[in-house]
Amino acid sequence: MKPYRLHAFICQGKRCAARGSEDIYEEMKARLKDLGLKGEIKLTKSGCVSVCKETETEGEYSPVMVIYPEGTWYRNVEVSDIDEIIEKHFRKGEIIERLLHYRLGRQSGSTK
Ligand code: FES
Repeated sequence: MKPYRLHAFICQGKRCAARGSEDIYEEMKARLKDLGLKGEIKLTKSGCVSVCKETETEGEYSPVMVIYPEGTWYRNVEVSDIDEIIEKHFRKGEIIERLLHYRLGRQSGSTK
């Protein structure tokens, strides 16, 4: 088995789940399968990654997705964002600025 190129976690904690993270997981899983990317990109459900607690109104940034190895954290992901995430981020390595929460080791909102 070849190693995965990317590993994406989709939060299934209660605040993200309340805002549709299960649908995002299922839809993305189906799209990766349809596109033949299942062996290249690993998709995993995660527990709460605490981004939902960063605002006064909890869950304001939900649903959250985290992509490794580069450590990109996206917030407010919707089912309608899935194709763009696959095409731009997964295929081309481009960061989707409007969804970016932060990248590991960098200031919030910075891609540098
Ligand atoms: S429930 Fe998803 S970040 Fe907390």
